[in-house]
Formats: sequence, C-alpha cells, structure tokens
Amino acid sequence: MVKEDDVLRLPYLSCIVKETLRLHPSVPFLLPRKTGNEVKLNEYTIPKGTRVLVNAWAIGRDPSIREDSQEFRPERFLSSLVDVQGQDFESIRFGGGRRICPGMPLALRMIPRGIELITSKF
Ligand code: HEM
Repeated sequence: MVKEDDVLRLPYLSCIVKETLRLHPSVPFLLPRKTGNEVKLNEYTIPKGTRVLVNAWAIGRDPSIREDSQEFRPERFLSSLVDVQGQDFESIRFGGGRRICPGMPLALRMIPRGIELITSKF
C-alpha cells in the first residue's frame, strides 16, 4: 500500500503535478500588475501606470521553450531542475515576486496527496 509518507519519494508524481499546472495554470494571467515606473522591455516601452497582465498560460505552452509544448509529458520534468516556486520564469504557476501565491506551500503538499488518493481508487 502506498502511504502518505511515500509521496515525497514519488518523483514522477511531482512531475505530473508540474505538467498539469503547466498546461492548465489555475490563474492564467496571474494577478494584474501596474508599472511603478516606465519600463523598457526588449523593443517595448511600457509607460508608468500601465496595467500589465502576465500570460502564464502562453509561457507554459511556448514551443520555443520546450519540445511538444502542447503534449502532456510529465517525464520532461524528470531530468529538469525547473522549480515552480517563482524563481524560474518559464514556470510561474504560482506567480512570482511580492504577489506570489501565499497558498503555495499548502498546495504543493496537498495536490500530490489528492492525486495519490484519486489514482489509488483505480
Ligand atoms: C494549485 C493550487 C494553486 C495555484 C496554482 C495557485 C496560483 C496562484 C497564482 C498564480 C496567484 C497569483 C500570483 C501572482 O500574480 O504573482 C495566486 C494568488 C493567491 N493565492 Fe493561490 N494558488 C493555488 C492555491 C492556493 C491556496 C491553497 C490558497 C489559500 C489557502 C491560495 C491563496 C491565494 C491568495 C490569497 C492569492 C492572492 C495573493 C495576493 O493578493 O497578493 N492559493 N495563486
């Protein structure tokens, strides 16, 4: 029987969580931001006071970042050091910076247990 303690030793399960949130982020545009100052970003100039939406959904599916970006392939994370906790900007399921999801530690503990409970019924 798989026990709750075993969840930490199931790396593929953690890959499934990452891959699910990559394809289906719960907050696809994150929380709206407003620029405090004029910002130059590549060839764009974003004026002070602009409302900015970050398209985390499109970043997760960007084909220039990863192969088969529309496919559900959890194993892509097996050999990857990508972290979902706001440090890697290719993976911002919980947002980043000062508005990062305060529920992230709880969610990261609970989701694998939920998946384990659901799959153990089959
Ligand atoms: C799969 C689980 C979850 C995901 C993917 C998720 C994702 C996010 C994202 C992307 C944001 C916006 C962050 C940003 O714009 O930088 C956010 C904000 C927030 N999340 Fe979560 N979240 C999850 C679970 C939870 C849970 C379990 C709680 C509370 C128990 C929670 C409470 C909040 C709150 C209060 C905010 C707003 C923070 C603010 O106003 O600055 N979330 N979440």
